Amino acid sequence: MDLVKELRQSLKSSFPDTAQIMSDQQKGLTPPQLEKPLAEGQESVELPPYDSVRLANNDFMQLVKERRSTREFKGEPMSLEQLSWLLWATQGVHGIFRGGIATRRTVPSAGSRHAFETYVFAFDVAGLRKGIYRYLAIEHKLVLVKAVEGLEGLLSEACLNQAFIGKAAAAFAWAVVPYRSEWRYPLSAHKILLLDAGHVCQNMYLSAGSIGFGTCAIAAYNQSLIDKLIGADGDDEFTVYLAAVGKLL
Ligand SMILES: Cc1cc2nc3c(=O)[nH]c(=O)nc-3n(C[C@H](O)[C@H](O)[C@H](O)COP(=O)(O)O)c2cc1C
Repeated sequence: MDLVKELRQSLKSSFPDTAQIMSDQQKGLTPPQLEKPLAEGQESVELPPYDSVRLANNDFMQLVKERRSTREFKGEPMSLEQLSWLLWATQGVHGIFRGGIATRRTVPSAGSRHAFETYVFAFDVAGLRKGIYRYLAIEHKLVLVKAVEGLEGLLSEACLNQAFIGKAAAAFAWAVVPYRSEWRYPLSAHKILLLDAGHVCQNMYLSAGSIGFGTCAIAAYNQSLIDKLIGADGDDEFTVYLAAVGKLL
């Protein structure tokens, strides 16, 4: 019970404490990069413009009212235009400001720190080789992290055997790079990051609905298995949230 009470503390506001310790930003330390750079030899893959997609439903009230979690999908591929739209709606960048140290995106983020990297498990995306990709949000491009055999089974297993995930056309994993927020909010970053993640996934629900796709948020997963799959070190970058997306029945 003591542990449970201790865990509750991170849900509380630490802003008054933050004022008592200097952040790395206040110390004048170099701001963290806005996105993870490409590794040596990695090549980026072009995405069609986000607004090239054809929306199946543009009725905002209906999309909000009918939002629900979907765990059954039609076995149809996702087009690259649809993937482009989902990526942009969840993490798309439409501005860099504060002298190049912050981005403005389609979702809000405390202090505009935007500490997420988006990974796409492309099971059945037309024109994309099956594999794990990372979204370069600033460039609106993808980079292949690795092509993996049996990817659907591996991800379902890593999500504690939730078999429906492997039947989706794609799954998204949002990994956090905590220092991007800790640099500005050393004690508040951890609460903030989880609040930020909620906005990202809500945009996934609404944007998936707008193209006739369904999604389900996923927080039940094996931390080290997913981190290994996406190539995150588990300390300076690790998964916090996932979503599986597929065509509605
Ligand atoms: C943070 C979070 C984590 C979730 N994790 C899972 C999960 O691992 N597996 C799953 O099947 N559903 C998961 N869900 C979906 C919830 O079960 C679902 O939102 C809830 O049953 C309400 O249904 P609705 O979204 O259709 O309104 C999660 C939802 C949220 C918000």
